[in-house]
Order: sequence, then C-alpha cells, then structure tokens
Amino acid sequence: MTAIVDLRLRPGTPADAEACGRICHAAFRGIAERHGFPPDFVSAEHAIEVLTRALTHPRFHCVVAELDGRIVGSNVLDERSTIAGLGPITVDPAVQNARVGRRLMLAALDRAKERAFPGVRLLQAAYHTRSLSLYTALGFDVREPVVTLQGAPIGAAIPGYTVREAHESDLEACNSVCVAVHGHDRGGELLDGIHLGTARLVEHGGRITGYTTAIAFFGHSVGETDEDLKALIANAREFGGAGFLLPARNGALYRWSLAHGLRVVQVMTLMTLGLYNEPAGAFLPSILY
Ligand SMILES: CC(C)(COP(=O)(O)OP(=O)(O)OC[C@H]1O[C@@H](n2cnc3c(N)ncnc32)[C@H](O)[C@@H]1OP(=O)(O)O)[C@@H](O)C(=O)NCCC(=O)NCCS
Repeated sequence: MTAIVDLRLRPGTPADAEACGRICHAAFRGIAERHGFPPDFVSAEHAIEVLTRALTHPRFHCVVAELDGRIVGSNVLDERSTIAGLGPITVDPAVQNARVGRRLMLAALDRAKERAFPGVRLLQAAYHTRSLSLYTALGFDVREPVVTLQGAPIGAAIPGYTVREAHESDLEACNSVCVAVHGHDRGGELLDGIHLGTARLVEHGGRITGYTTAIAFFGHSVGETDEDLKALIANAREFGGAGFLLPARNGALYRWSLAHGLRVVQVMTLMTLGLYNEPAGAFLPSILY
C-alpha cells in the first residue's frame, strides 16, 4: 500500500477509547491469528478498558491518527517513570503497511524527546516481522528475547523469603532495588500497583530485596537475585492477562518456571531506544502498566 498523505495526528482524549480499543483488538487479533497465536487482548471490551485507562491517566500520552475524520490508529506513551514505555500501537487492518504506524511511532518519540526522557522501551511480538523491522528502522535495539509464561499458580514458599503486600511507605526501599538492578527507578508504575492493591514485595535477611507491581502481562518485577523473583512468582494467585514476561536469557529462572509446570504462550522482544543499562539483577518486564 502507498503512504497515506492526508493523515491527521492529534492527542487522544477519553472519548477516543471505544474507537481506538476496537482497532487495537482487531489489529492484534488479525496478526496473532495469522500466526496461530492467541490475541493479546481477549475481547474488544478488554482493549477498550486498557485504552480507557491510558486515555484517562494523567501520566500517559496518547496519539490518535485520523483519516477523513475517522480514527485509523493510536499509540501510547507511558510517562510514569524515568524510562518511557511505548505501546500498544495499533493501526486499522484496512490501512496497515501504509506508513500510519511509522507516523504514530514518530509522534510518540517526538513527545518522549520533548519531555526529555533519557530512554524508551517496548515489547514486540517476536513473530511480527513488520513491527520488528519498523522499530529497528526507527532506532530501537533488541535487548532481550522474552517468554510469556502462563499456567496454574505455583502456591509455594521459598524458605527465607517472605512475601507481603507493598505499601506507599515501602516505595523508597523498592525503588532502591530497581535502581540497583536497572540504574533507574520505576516508581510511577509501582505507585499505581500499590494503589491497585496488586503490588507485593519480598523480604530476605531483614530487608526488602525485590518487588512486583503484579506477576502479570501488565506488571513488572525486580529482585536482587532469582530467589527473590521465585518467591514472588510462587506466591502469585494467578498470572494476569496473557501471562507474565520472563527474559529467556535468564535460563535458571526459565528452567525453574518450566519445572513448576508453566508453559510458554509466545515469545516477545524487549527493545529500547536511548538509555539502557544491562540489568545487574533479576527482572521481569511488563507489557505496559
Ligand atoms: C505494527 C503496526 C502498528 C505497524 O503499522 P503499519 O502502518 O502497518 O506499518 P508501516 O507501514 O508504518 O511500517 C511498516 C514498515 O515495515 C516494513 N516491513 C513490512 N514487512 C517487513 C518485513 N517482512 N521485513 C522488513 N521490513 C518490513 C515496511 O516496508 C515499512 O517500512 P517503510 O516505511 O520503511 O517502508 C501495525 O501493523 C499493526 O497494528 N499491527 C498489529 C498490532 C501490532 O502488532 N502492534 C504492535 C505490537 S508490538
């Protein structure tokens, strides 16, 4: 398809949630079904809910693409922490491969530049050759192959590691773990997890050594060691959404997860642009929230 010239880009508003959510569901379902994978968004309602959250959250910036007054795609920049998160980006299947995605990416990256984010991260579906190429062309580098894991809750304790609910008073200690592992905190996302009641932390040797905003598709986790993450994973009552994300290069934790009955749903790629520090500890990325 040739590039669309009269495309209009504008900031998204809560009123766009329904149209953007429907396109998001259709776009992900289309590409997933073509490759025989389950869609990331189980229904249009699920996608509308996720887009509503982004479009109403003061620290998310959404950009919408319109053609002849009709919404044909959207992109989201998560501005809650030091490194911005990008996605979901989706384009109406009827106008894909005509550079709408490229324009939506450039708009989000302009915004990140304006707001002086030192880096941007995203998760890409590994089977999607088009998005991998588009992101690479725009400057993103591949950092990690990531597996999405799903299965029955493990329901076990790791001796010496205590898991409890995280509270606002724990924010500083949790952020310190994240800074030690990633070189920056993800405090804005953690605060949301605390307010949602999904955030948990792990204590070992009398101090906080790891936390999770949720062991889920939309949650991230950080631990000084694999044992901290094992304690958090084994404590989870469910793995929300499509499953939780685990860097495949962490073979020890991957093998432990497999030995506990978890199964891979799909492989994704963690990509970054700008500041990125090789993690100095254990971590589970989040698809977004
Ligand atoms: C991913 C998505 C947002 C991209 O938007 P799009 O408008 O279709 O993409 P664009 O036309 O802007 O860009 C695609 C680029 O990939 C290139 N491309 C496509 N297939 C390719 C391949 N197999 N190898 C290399 N490059 C390829 C195109 O040539 C184009 O580059 P160009 O502009 O330099 O010519 C859109 O396809 C979509 O909504 N997909 C489903 C949902 C999804 O996967 N979202 C992303 C989650 S990670």
